[in-house]
Amino acid sequence: MELKIIEPKTKKAKPTGNLGFGKIFTDRMFVMEYANGAWGNARIQPYEPFVLEPSSSVFHYGQAVFEGMKAYKNEKGEVRLFRPRDNFNRMNDSNDRICIPRIDVEFALEALKKLVLLEKDWIPTEPGTALYIRPSIIAVDRALGVHAAHNYIFFIILSPVGAYYAHGLEPVGLYVEREYVRASKGGTGHHKVVGNYAASLKAGEKANALGYDQVMWLDAKEHKYVEEVGSMNIFFVLNGKAVTPELGGSILPGVTRRSVIELFKSKGITVEERLVSINEVVDGVISGKCTEIFGSGTAAVISPVGKICYNDTDYVVGGGKMGELSMLAYNELTGIQTGKIPDPFGWVMKISD
Ligand code: COI
Repeated sequence: MELKIIEPKTKKAKPTGNLGFGKIFTDRMFVMEYANGAWGNARIQPYEPFVLEPSSSVFHYGQAVFEGMKAYKNEKGEVRLFRPRDNFNRMNDSNDRICIPRIDVEFALEALKKLVLLEKDWIPTEPGTALYIRPSIIAVDRALGVHAAHNYIFFIILSPVGAYYAHGLEPVGLYVEREYVRASKGGTGHHKVVGNYAASLKAGEKANALGYDQVMWLDAKEHKYVEEVGSMNIFFVLNGKAVTPELGGSILPGVTRRSVIELFKSKGITVEERLVSINEVVDGVISGKCTEIFGSGTAAVISPVGKICYNDTDYVVGGGKMGELSMLAYNELTGIQTGKIPDPFGWVMKISD
């Protein structure tokens, strides 16, 4: 498929100072449309608003998926993507789940590379920063009947970002949610479907109002097993082993989660993917067997957890400080991503003009 390039007439000033997360967007975006049974009209064009009919299906029934990945520059100025094929493959899994037509992963990758290279001057290089990449697909039929749409827009926008959490690598506080649930088996929790995030907002607001950064979700059936955290997968260091909830159908299969598992195994650290009950975690924190908790995600990278609140009681983890394995995961992953340390896994895709 042809990829047209439409150059922006004006360019924005590059940001200086604290970038925050997802508030600044670059000059260009990628857009492709699905109509008459095929993806087409692929183009890199100026970043600008879409004009959509109020009847567009996405506004009514939320048929939309997204992804998150990052581009980095190494010290030589070479541009690097982290496991982008994994994200586009996961996007196709999400597409399948909510009846969106699959994308051609190799074409999407080529388009992404081209877009990122055109926007390479927007890639920040300060420690803890990156160019966040947000691919999304939305359904745009003019129709109010509940059915899979026949028309879609796939777009990729770029945002230079700093840390996802305002306080950077400071350990976050998690509120263990016992009333609301994020996802149940057979639902869409295993996929990056926009509705999952809408369903999480109420509990997120509640956690924030109580002074916590994010929600720790429990399973929908028994409210007993830990699933994931607002925008991240979750790891516990229990008896010296890294333990993370098994995927089981309602947990997002994070690319960073998989990378942490592979990284730890390569270092001889035992990793267990299994059911983890909230009681095991709380008992472990009280007895000192649970020495660390950290989240993993593209946006959040590795985010240490300093306390969890369960049944109205706060439990401080690892003295409220970032632990050894959390630090190892953070240093190794960001080192590989930014090219400060070699990538023995073949995760990094170097891209050049
Ligand atoms: C990511 O980590 O890239 C995500 O998509 C999480 C998010 C909703 C910010």
